[in-house]
Amino acid sequence: MIDIHTHILPDIDDGASGLAEAESLLRAEAEQGVHEIVLTPHYYGKRTVGQFLYLRMQALERIRDFVPQGVKLRLGAEVFLKGINDPPDDALCALCIEGTKCVLVELPYFGRWSSMLFSRLNEFISETGYTPIVAHVERYEETLQNPATVSALIEMGCLIQLNTCAFTTKETKRFAFALMRNGMVHCLGTDAHNPKERAPDYQKAQRAVEEAGLSKEWEDLKNTTRDLLSGKLPQRTQVKIRKFGKRYF
Ligand SMILES: [Fe+2]
Repeated sequence: MIDIHTHILPDIDDGASGLAEAESLLRAEAEQGVHEIVLTPHYYGKRTVGQFLYLRMQALERIRDFVPQGVKLRLGAEVFLKGINDPPDDALCALCIEGTKCVLVELPYFGRWSSMLFSRLNEFISETGYTPIVAHVERYEETLQNPATVSALIEMGCLIQLNTCAFTTKETKRFAFALMRNGMVHCLGTDAHNPKERAPDYQKAQRAVEEAGLSKEWEDLKNTTRDLLSGKLPQRTQVKIRKFGKRYF
């Protein structure tokens, strides 16, 4: 399994606090069968990209000795975009997932998304050739209330990430399964923050997905995620896009 979204690096954001928590999260990931972890601390634009990359490297050095055998780490970031005063293209590119041309982006949680936000995403894709991965698409008021927004993001060239807990949370599971059935999920992440309330839960998610009869989709998703980390993106035309409205729920 690959976990594409985590806050395991210690003391850099609201994720792991101290080495002990980071170590515990790393161990939990290995126990869940995760063999590759993308480390994606929040980037809110409060620091320069240079400062952020330096702090990220320091945090990585602190956990190196605690990485379970057989687990590979990869650096990334979760970059908040809102359509106004966002980081410029070169900053976004510098914050991409190591070894890829993909950037994990977090969008506003509440309210409708502005046309400026869609323009910013569009412009970033066309000007850089990089691909935004929209983090935890089940957590936004915009996507939950207007599921067709997810189709629009995919049509624009974004990839879609779901949190593993989306399949087991009452408020989001129908949405998550509907996206999965329609081939509209490209990668999963645990968004693990701490060992108590937000620990890795891959196995629980896998059980829920299998019980929903989506074992094949789960395997496909594993392959898509592996491919995208090796630089091979799903073809936009191959993504099964349907008008994805409330009737699917
Ligand atoms: Fe996150």
